[in-house]
Amino acid sequence: MPSSPEPLSLEPRLDVRLASLLGAGEFLPSLVDALGSPLNVLLPDQIAENAARFRAAYGTHRLGGQVYFAHKANRSSALLRRLAATDTAVDVASLGELQHALGAGFAPDRIMATGPKNREFLWLAARTGVTVHADSAGELDELAALARAHQLARIRVLVRLSAFDGPGVKVLTRPSRFGTPAGELDPLLKTVERHADVLELTGVGYHLDTTSPEEKARALEGCVRALDVCRSRGLRPRAVDIGGGFGVNYLAHAAQWERYTSELTAAVLGHRPPLTWRGHGYGLRNDAGTLRGALGLYPAHRPVAGARYLDELLALPAASFGGRSLATLLLENLYDLYTEPGRALVDQCGLVLARVLEVRRTDSGEPLVRLAMKADDAGLEEHGVLMDPVLLGRDGTRAVAGDGPAAGVYLAGSLCLEADLITRRMVFLPRLPRPGELLAFVNTAGYCMDFQTSRAQHQPVARKVAAWQEDSSWRWCLDEQYWPITRPGGEP
Ligand SMILES: Cc1ncc(COP(=O)(O)O)c(C=O)c1O
Repeated sequence: MPSSPEPLSLEPRLDVRLASLLGAGEFLPSLVDALGSPLNVLLPDQIAENAARFRAAYGTHRLGGQVYFAHKANRSSALLRRLAATDTAVDVASLGELQHALGAGFAPDRIMATGPKNREFLWLAARTGVTVHADSAGELDELAALARAHQLARIRVLVRLSAFDGPGVKVLTRPSRFGTPAGELDPLLKTVERHADVLELTGVGYHLDTTSPEEKARALEGCVRALDVCRSRGLRPRAVDIGGGFGVNYLAHAAQWERYTSELTAAVLGHRPPLTWRGHGYGLRNDAGTLRGALGLYPAHRPVAGARYLDELLALPAASFGGRSLATLLLENLYDLYTEPGRALVDQCGLVLARVLEVRRTDSGEPLVRLAMKADDAGLEEHGVLMDPVLLGRDGTRAVAGDGPAAGVYLAGSLCLEADLITRRMVFLPRLPRPGELLAFVNTAGYCMDFQTSRAQHQPVARKVAAWQEDSSWRWCLDEQYWPITRPGGEP
């Protein structure tokens, strides 16, 4: 039986609340005993804390505006209801999300409808007076027709722009299939003007799927230029919406991430024993000794993420406006800043628990751990986030290095499908898990928890619970039963 290669850990970053939850003894195992595996645990107080950090970044730069939580990152009611009890707003991207936000306590003036929309979604947004972030001129036409047909009040709209470039600019923003290219602003504004009786343009925005602050800075400058054009035509929009994508730092140690990615490259080239299931390369491949492709992974260790990323972005120079900071550019024009953080607002807000069903060996002798969950119940791999789960013993005690010989294992789900692998890489745990123990996939509230869940094979999707601290102990309730009120001694 081969021994595991030298451990290559990717330890998750755990802030105080999540670390305390993992140290709460039998609390987590007893929840799984009662509610089954997999189980999603959410920490509503954390989202309120994260939102306050975003607000503080606005304060640092003396900017007004609004933080809109991109609801799509997690379906939880508890997170949304807790957020509704703060001054944060919400970005909804479907009819269901809009209904959910209204029901969670968000008044329409704290809701913005984004993304491409169907007619029912547009109607409910227009009927309730929600701001609509329009994806295209066609959407503006449809919205205006609805407003006229139903004699609705004038609707506040933002227009989403994309494909920015600008004077003397070297960094171009990447193309997007959403929004209207900034170069087509004129026909877009003509549409707005044609519908002036029913639509009021309040801002322009973008959302870029990139980690690059430079690209985002160019897009922000592009929006300010677009607002100048609006003003020269007599329109009066005041908001710049810079979308989401502020990111999360998932890992505790930069060095582990750097070492892991170099060893993965070495493994793909055959310079070390494999680290992945059947030579999976996460986008890299060995072409007769030459490394080809690109690593298709989320940068799991990010020294600057979340509210700090926003802070640093706002401090960047606006190159095409004489080099003063982006924040100063907004401030001088008295523009409001809108942000739509999803992943970053649910950082440290939850975990997925799964019970170990079986530990066996593959043909080549490597341990394969089968869990009572499906791969889509914790879509870390799907979202390219490589981060180790935490092993909890039957009494909830967290396994730590030195508990036994470290074990490199593959994690499989409970579907009768070769592809149902929770990890396609060898995951290094402090010791070999035993049936009945739990693996906690921490910090998975952003997209990894419920974005892709299915009921394949009639297997259940995870239940959700909300957990919070009261005095020195942990309490919980079902996610749908959580309201941020009946918590003696707790917040708010
Ligand atoms: C329009 C829009 N806003 C905000 C977000 C949230 O992005 P993130 O979760 O990376 O912050 C998305 C994500 O797809 C989006 O499409």
